[in-house]
Amino acid sequence: MNTKEIKSKFNSLFGSELRVYTSPGRVNLIGEHTDYNGGFVFPGAIDKGIYAAINPNGTGRIRAYSMDYNALSEFGMTEADAPREPWARYIFGVVREMQKRGFEPKGFDTVFAGDVPLGAGMSSSAALESTFANALNDIFDLGIDRFELARIGQSTEHNYCGVKCGIMDQFASVFGKEGHLMRLNCATMEFEYFPFNPKGYKVVLLDTVVKHELASSAYNKRRESCENACAHIKTKHQEVNYLSDATMSMLDEVKDEISNEDYMRAKYVIGERQRVLDVCAALERGDYETVGDRMYGTHHGMSKEYEVSCEELDYLNDIAKECGVTGSRVMGGGFGGCTINLVKEGLYDKFIATAKEKFNAKFGHEPKVYDVVISDGARRLE
Ligand code: GLA
Repeated sequence: MNTKEIKSKFNSLFGSELRVYTSPGRVNLIGEHTDYNGGFVFPGAIDKGIYAAINPNGTGRIRAYSMDYNALSEFGMTEADAPREPWARYIFGVVREMQKRGFEPKGFDTVFAGDVPLGAGMSSSAALESTFANALNDIFDLGIDRFELARIGQSTEHNYCGVKCGIMDQFASVFGKEGHLMRLNCATMEFEYFPFNPKGYKVVLLDTVVKHELASSAYNKRRESCENACAHIKTKHQEVNYLSDATMSMLDEVKDEISNEDYMRAKYVIGERQRVLDVCAALERGDYETVGDRMYGTHHGMSKEYEVSCEELDYLNDIAKECGVTGSRVMGGGFGGCTINLVKEGLYDKFIATAKEKFNAKFGHEPKVYDVVISDGARRLE
C-alpha cells in the first residue's frame, strides 16, 4: 500500500513529525478453531494490512483519524473517556490493555488506513491491534516483548470488541516472516517457521463477500461448547487441560453427559488436531496431495460438525472439488469470508474463471480473488 496519502493527511491534521508502522492480516493453511483449544495452527502473514502514521502529542489524549471511514475520533485513556466508534475501540483497547499490564503509553495522534478486506476472515482486526501495539511499544519505548504484544491484541478483542478469540491472528500478525508459515502450539506458545514455497502450486483466496451479522456471538458459543466438553472429559482424565489433548475415545466416554451439539463441536476439534499433524508430516515430504486432502477434511468438519460455514462457502468448496483443485476449505472463524485454495498452476486460470461464472450465476456477484503472498509481520516502515 502506498503510504503517501496517509502521511499527507497526517501532515494536514497534526503536523509533519511522524513515524509509519504496519502490521499484516493472515492466512491459515490448516488448524482452525484449535487455538483456543490448546491445539496447533499453521498461519502466515500476508502482504495486506493496516498502515498508521503516528506521533506522540504531549497530552493524555488520543486523536485518531480513519481514512477508510473518513472519520476522526478523539478520546482519553480511561474507561470513562472511551470512544464510541467501534473502529476506535480497537485502538483504545490496546492502550487500556497496556495500562492493565503496568505499561504507560502516552497521548498520540494517528492517521491510519488498511488494504486488508474487512470481515473476510483475513484478520483485519488483529492487523489493527498489532499495528498500534507495536507502534506504541516503539514510540514510548515500553519494552514489551512480542508475545505480550500479541496477547494485548487478543485481550483487546476479548474486553473491548466482544470476541473471545484465540491467539492465532495476533500471533501471526506480530511474528510473520516473508515466505514462511508458522506452526504454533497454542498450549505452550512454542513455534517454528516453515519455509512455504509449494512448487507448481498457487495459494489463492476466494472471498464470498458474505459477512455474518452474528459471527461474534456464534464464535463465542463454539468456544463455550468446547470448554464444556473439555470440562466433562477432565473429570475422567485429569491430564487433559485442553480439548486438543483429548482423544475420540475420551470424548465418547462423555457422550451421554453433553449435548449432541457440544459433542459434534468437540469431534471436529479432535479431528482437526490429527489433520494438522498429517499436514506437517506431508509438508516435510513435499506431499501436497495429502495437504489438500486434509484441507477438504477441515472444510467438511467446519461445515457439518462445527457448523461455521455457509451456503456460499460450501458452494465455492464444491466448485473447487469439481475442478480438481488440490485443497480447498473455509478459512478463519467462518460464517462468511474466504475459502483458501491450494491449486496447481496449470489449473489456476480455469478454476478462477469457473468459480466466478458459477458463483455469479447462483448468487448474483462474483467472489473476489486474492493471490496469497506470505510476508513480514509487525514493523516500522519509516
Ligand atoms: C478467528 C479467531 C482466531 C481463530 C480463528 C479460527 O480468526 O480470531 O483466534 O480461533 O477464528 O481458527
